[in-house]
Amino acid sequence: MTITPFTPTALLVTGGAGFIGSNFINRFMPRNLGCRVVNLDALTYAGNLKNLTAVEQNPNYRFIRGDIGDAPLVASILATEKIDAVVHFAAESHVDRSITGPEIFVRTNVLGTQTLLEESRRHWQAGAVPQFRFYQISTDEVYGSLGDTGFFTETTPLAPNSPYSASKAGADLLVRAYHETFGLPTLISRCSNNYGPFHFPEKLIPLLIANIIAQKPLPVYGDGSNVRDWLHVQDHGAAIECILKNAQPGSVYNIGGNNEWQNIAIVNLVCDLLDSRLGRAPGTNRGLIAFVKDRLGHDRRYAIDASRLKIDLGWSPAYTFETGIAETIDWYLTNQSWVDAVTSGSYREYYLQQYGGAQ
Ligand code: NAD
Ligand code: TYD
Repeated sequence: MTITPFTPTALLVTGGAGFIGSNFINRFMPRNLGCRVVNLDALTYAGNLKNLTAVEQNPNYRFIRGDIGDAPLVASILATEKIDAVVHFAAESHVDRSITGPEIFVRTNVLGTQTLLEESRRHWQAGAVPQFRFYQISTDEVYGSLGDTGFFTETTPLAPNSPYSASKAGADLLVRAYHETFGLPTLISRCSNNYGPFHFPEKLIPLLIANIIAQKPLPVYGDGSNVRDWLHVQDHGAAIECILKNAQPGSVYNIGGNNEWQNIAIVNLVCDLLDSRLGRAPGTNRGLIAFVKDRLGHDRRYAIDASRLKIDLGWSPAYTFETGIAETIDWYLTNQSWVDAVTSGSYREYYLQQYGGAQ
């Protein structure tokens, strides 16, 4: 596979106030000093500008509150900011919410992506910039569920099971279609479950940490034997930067670190690490575990084969899980005010303080 070098000068990052998008911006900006970053985010419940205090004073950074489905807004940002790469994180991202309310997942993840693609196509075809990339940040969940053996590769057929994963698969197929039909220079990567700082505490790992600190029950779905493959969010960010700058347009890459865990093993690990950090007797936190009704359509196992990315572009993860999970727990302990703000909802006031106007 040939490496196709690309040096972006102005990124449109969508969903940059969320977990992975904010980690990406915080990592990318100090490493790419000449590149401007425009962050377009609707600030749903999952968008938190406090995740971005490290870059908010950077003259190359600009935040715009808006919806990816707002075509005139997207068109105007692409043109006025001379955007040469769209890195598209914005999405509804929580499987449980997609089961109780799928409609917003279709609106944001499918229709929102289509709007971004269409406006990107016009911008690119108008020759507004010498080179262009549209980068879709996707998930291994589009492949469906595995049995006890095997791995997802880039050629595994898409077989999504939840409304969330179906909406991401729909978006991926539109991205593919814009490349095949119009030649739009697209990229897609599909990553396994992420963990790390700024993770909204509705997802398993930050929920465990927040609930253990607050001595609340730890809900484990079913018997806890479902398997997820965990990657540190900074490793994901490094892989995205590598793919953006080096991958051939039209390509698809899986991202993962060969790090499979049964849910109950993660729960026990986080309980035990926090016993020692919080000065609780060994085994105390495991007493908070509560087995609850299983998630509907709960995917059994995810496991990523990321060898294409390693072979083509030389990427491999920098974090071991032992280091990453310990650092993550320490981050939550030293950033208790972030957790409190997210849990109480007060994080939403930060937008008003910074930018004024109605929330
Ligand atoms: P998140 O829920 O933490 O953040 C999503 C962000 O998108 C929020 O800031 C939200 O305000 C914004 N947003 C939502 N709807 C919008 C709209 N209509 N217009 C503009 N902004 C909008 O999600 P995340 O965990 O950071 O995931 C980011 C991306 O990575 C998603 O596309 C997700 O599918 C993908 N992904 C996530 C994981 C994971 O483990 N979390 C793994 C693989 C891929
Ligand atoms: P989650 O963090 O929601 O990510 P995803 O569903 O996208 O993989 O869940 C990770 C795993 O943990 C999944 O198998 C569901 C399970 N889980 C629980 O057992 N309890 C919980 O409270 C949550 C949020 C998830």
